[in-house]
Amino acid sequence: MSDKLIIFDTTLRDGEQSPGASMTREEKLRIARQLERLRVDVIEAGFAASSNGDFAAVKAIADVIKESTVCSLARANDRDIARAAEALQGAARARIHTFIATSALHMEKKLRMTPEQVLEQAKQAVRFARNACADVEFSPEDGYRSDPDFLCRVLETVIAEGATTINVPDTVGYAVPELYGEFIRRLRERIPNSDKAVWSVHCHNDLGMAVANSLAGVKIGGARQVECTINGLGERAGNTSLEEVVMAVKTRRDYFDLDVGIDAAQIVPASRMVSQTTGFVVQPNKAVVGANAFAHASGIHQDGVLKARDTYEIMRAEDVGWSANKIVLGKLSGRNAFKQRLQELGIEMESEAEINAAFARFKDLADRKSEIFDEDIIALVGDESVTGEVEHYRLLSLSQRSETGERPHAQVAFAAGTKELHAESDGNGPVDASLKAIESQVKSGAELMLYSVNAITSGSTESQGEVTVRLQHSGRVVNGVGADPDIVVASAKAYLSALNKLHSNAERVAAQG
Ligand code: KIV
Ligand code: ZN
Repeated sequence: MSDKLIIFDTTLRDGEQSPGASMTREEKLRIARQLERLRVDVIEAGFAASSNGDFAAVKAIADVIKESTVCSLARANDRDIARAAEALQGAARARIHTFIATSALHMEKKLRMTPEQVLEQAKQAVRFARNACADVEFSPEDGYRSDPDFLCRVLETVIAEGATTINVPDTVGYAVPELYGEFIRRLRERIPNSDKAVWSVHCHNDLGMAVANSLAGVKIGGARQVECTINGLGERAGNTSLEEVVMAVKTRRDYFDLDVGIDAAQIVPASRMVSQTTGFVVQPNKAVVGANAFAHASGIHQDGVLKARDTYEIMRAEDVGWSANKIVLGKLSGRNAFKQRLQELGIEMESEAEINAAFARFKDLADRKSEIFDEDIIALVGDESVTGEVEHYRLLSLSQRSETGERPHAQVAFAAGTKELHAESDGNGPVDASLKAIESQVKSGAELMLYSVNAITSGSTESQGEVTVRLQHSGRVVNGVGADPDIVVASAKAYLSALNKLHSNAERVAAQG
């Protein structure tokens, strides 16, 4: 009989730590619902003690998610753990994930603590957490670069205190597959009570080996939990990609001999939702979820696939949720057809009023775009006119003029709270003019670090443009996303969305600071 591999998703915690990827409570809740549809075993919803906003997000997720375990990160101290426990009170299944660094470098330079102090703090933290929650995970941060003898003492102690999962992070992405797998195998062999806990892997992708390292931790090390994120979202080069691990284990079941509870057909919708929410675009050649992952361009491949699909395909596009690029609806589609498509896409609306608002947005879009694809629907459900989340800055209208040989000019009207502001400006192009017009009123002083436009659906100039704008101000980095068939309008929406994030000035404690 094969074992089960636990999929622990940390898109909403470790993924969100990526500069610019921070999400609002509503955005996190929407993604958590999609993760539940994907049937991940554990959702790490955030770091409750890091900010009031993150506490509220963890609590909201714990209150609604019923099928997956909901987890909060907590540093190894009573205050953080108590805050995590409080946020998780409403959860059907709760987990507290507590951590402290154990490498000599981190203990000496970052924590300024002796190894004995760290050992004692880890022990007290797990004891305290176990009194608050039956399911406790412990992570020795920078575990892979820690002295194995010391690590064995710490892990044996926390298991004795009741830690139910032991996670071995490669915090800085330094591991290579065979060595990481062996590292975990030896820890499990040497620690007398290692069989009392589930072993877990948590790999960062700095050398591009996070997925390979995680799978080696499973195959060689015997780990039975993988920590990962949708699209590999995460700080620096990111985390282990959920979709790659899941499809590797499913496709090569002959080798891994493990079960995963994931509903793979929800992978692409989850990938879309995360990239549209955070503005982190998926590279076209990304395994499983990239736009080209199943595209056969060469004649020889196309010919082979037409004759027998498995000549060049090891997975089926539809099995991972690529039903996309299908024309689903148009101008004449009714409310029922729209509602049914929402259901098929796994999009839950809170109320009839929300469905009505989404349908009105859909009709508005269908007036300007003859074919509406799944991706268009996914983009419009995040719109504030649908979610009812009233943002501080909102675009009201935009007009712009550009002509060969003339300097482009834009006029923008937008709301700032209850005020209506009007602005105009010239610019190098219509996008530049529009953003300058907005900035002339808001005076945010933010630095534009990234501007990118992508077609939501490929292959047609009729597609909606999805614009990502990344702004930096006083050390904070935020991403804003906007979608519209008119890319100048999409750009203004994205800029205002980024300003909204700067406007909500939530201060956060960094998990690995
Ligand atoms: O990478 C890391 O070490 C972490 C821990 C907090 C688990 O994310
Ligand atoms: Zn991490």
